[in-house]
Amino acid sequence: MKLEIRNLTKDFGTVRALNDFSMVFEPGIYGILGANGAGKSTMINLITDNVARQEGEILYDGTDILKLGAKFRKDIGYMPQQQGFYEDFSARAFLQYMASVKGLKRKDANRQIDELLEIVNLKQHVNKKVGGL
Ligand SMILES: Nc1ncnc2c1ncn2[C@@H]1O[C@H](COP(=O)(O)OP(=O)(O)OP(=O)(O)O)[C@@H](O)[C@H]1O
Ligand SMILES: [Mg+2]
Repeated sequence: MKLEIRNLTKDFGTVRALNDFSMVFEPGIYGILGANGAGKSTMINLITDNVARQEGEILYDGTDILKLGAKFRKDIGYMPQQQGFYEDFSARAFLQYMASVKGLKRKDANRQIDELLEIVNLKQHVNKKVGGL
């Protein structure tokens, strides 16, 4: 797995959020440090295709992610700084909702939800409201 960022530039109006930024990510753990407004979130939003590309390329194993589309989305996950939880959903309902957004079948989703809640020791809370956890 190789994620290669080449010469990304991104402007928001007159603000240049990224200026000719290049980087290669290979398997491992990376920390991205920078002052407020340095462009960290913009980089992540471009990698996840949440903001429109302006200039540059993002290659996943050699192919631009914009060409890979759904195939790339299967391989990448993103937990944003600000979480969008629905506090009145139960833990199961919230995870079912997320699974349906991801296109999982209900049966597969329920199996994975059970497996994951077991791993993180939250299985006994599956019917509690997210806002109460
Ligand atoms: N949607 C947007 N519209 C206008 N300006 C934006 C937008 N997103 C980011 N910017 C601007 O682009 C620059 C980079 O912002 P970005 O959010 O990428 O920085 P950051 O490194 O994630 O900062 P922080 O440490 O505060 O999270 C900032 O000047 C910011 O105000
Ligand atoms: Mg940020």
